[in-house]
Amino acid sequence: MNKPIIIGNWKLNGSKYSIQTFVRNFFKELSNFKKCNIIIAPPNIYLDFFKNILFNKNLISLCAQDVDFNNYGSFTGETSPLMLKDIGVKYVIIGHSERRFYHKEDDQVITKKFSSLKKIGLIPIICIGETKTEKLQDKTIDVICYKQLNSIIEKMGVESLNDSIIAYEPIWAIGTGKAANPNEVQIIHESIRQFIFKKNSQTAKKVKILYGGSINEKNAIKFFEKQDVDGLLVGNAALETKIFSRIINEISYYNKNNN
Ligand code: 13P
Repeated sequence: MNKPIIIGNWKLNGSKYSIQTFVRNFFKELSNFKKCNIIIAPPNIYLDFFKNILFNKNLISLCAQDVDFNNYGSFTGETSPLMLKDIGVKYVIIGHSERRFYHKEDDQVITKKFSSLKKIGLIPIICIGETKTEKLQDKTIDVICYKQLNSIIEKMGVESLNDSIIAYEPIWAIGTGKAANPNEVQIIHESIRQFIFKKNSQTAKKVKILYGGSINEKNAIKFFEKQDVDGLLVGNAALETKIFSRIINEISYYNKNNN
C-alpha cells in the first residue's frame, strides 16, 4: 500500500530561528513517521537552509510553494524549476488559490508550470478548488475537473498525471477554520478519479488526491479515513510543531485497510 502523503505548506511564514526550532522539536514529537510521506514547503528563500538543517535525513521531502515556468533568463524576481532541482527540491505546488487570486495566475500559466516541472522531473502538486459561489451554484466539478484539470490534460495528456499529486482545496475552506464536510470531500474526490478514469483507468489508480482546507489535529483523520483521500495538504496547522506532528502520528497509526 502507498504511504499517506502529508504536506505542510508554510506559506509566507517562518524565519531561520523558527525553522531550527521546528526541526528540533518535530522529530521528538513524531513516533512513527516513516509510515507517512512527509513533505514540507517553506518559503523559497529558506529551502536550502531547511534542507541543511535536516542533515539530509531523507525523512522529509523538500517542496517549493511555487515556481516560474522559465528555466533561466530575464525574469526578475522569479525562481526556476532548474534552480529548485539544483538545491534538492522534489515537489512543487502549482495553482494554489492564493497564486490564482493575488497573482492572477490562470489555467494556461499553471499548465505551463506543470509542463516545465515534468520536463525536468520535479513532481507537481496541482491545487484545484472552487469558490463559495461556485459551490452554491453546484459548479464544483465543472470548475475543478472540466476547467482546471482539463487544461493540463488537454495540453499534456492524461498520463502526465500518473506521478503527479492533485490537491483539492475548496477556496472557502482555506484559512477560515471551516473545513469542508468529509463525506462531501469523498464524493468530490471520487468524481475527480472517475473523471480521470474515463480517460485512462491506470492513471486514475496511480494519481494521488489530497484534501486541504482548515485541517487540524481534530479533523485530519475524518478526511484521511475516506477511501479516495490519499493524504492532506495542511496550512496553518503545519506551522505548529505539536499540532502538525499529532496529525502525522494519528495518520501513521491509522490502517485504512483494516477499517
Ligand atoms: P489552511 O490549512 O490554513 O486552511 O490552508 C490550507 C492551504 O491553503 C494549504 O495549501
